[in-house]
Amino acid sequence: MQKIGCPMAVTVRLRRNGPYVIDSEDVTVVDWNGQSYPVMRRPIALCRCGASTTKPFCDGTHSRIGFQAAEAAVPDSEDKPAS
Ligand code: FES
Repeated sequence: MQKIGCPMAVTVRLRRNGPYVIDSEDVTVVDWNGQSYPVMRRPIALCRCGASTTKPFCDGTHSRIGFQAAEAAVPDSEDKPAS
């Protein structure tokens, strides 16, 4: 099992109707046992739609299935997900 390092501030950015994107060299993606996934590209894009064939990573399927995400962080903003 891989030991998780010291905590640091990392921003997880939500793409509109797309994946969670983590743009950091110091992020490791681990499974429930703490085993790390090989990261082939950065920034890391984690599937949010549930339809990726390369989970936990995004493979672009969200675009093909028309995934629509939940609201933006500020619910009353004009920046709503596509409908
Ligand atoms: S968010 Fe991209 S495939 Fe799920």
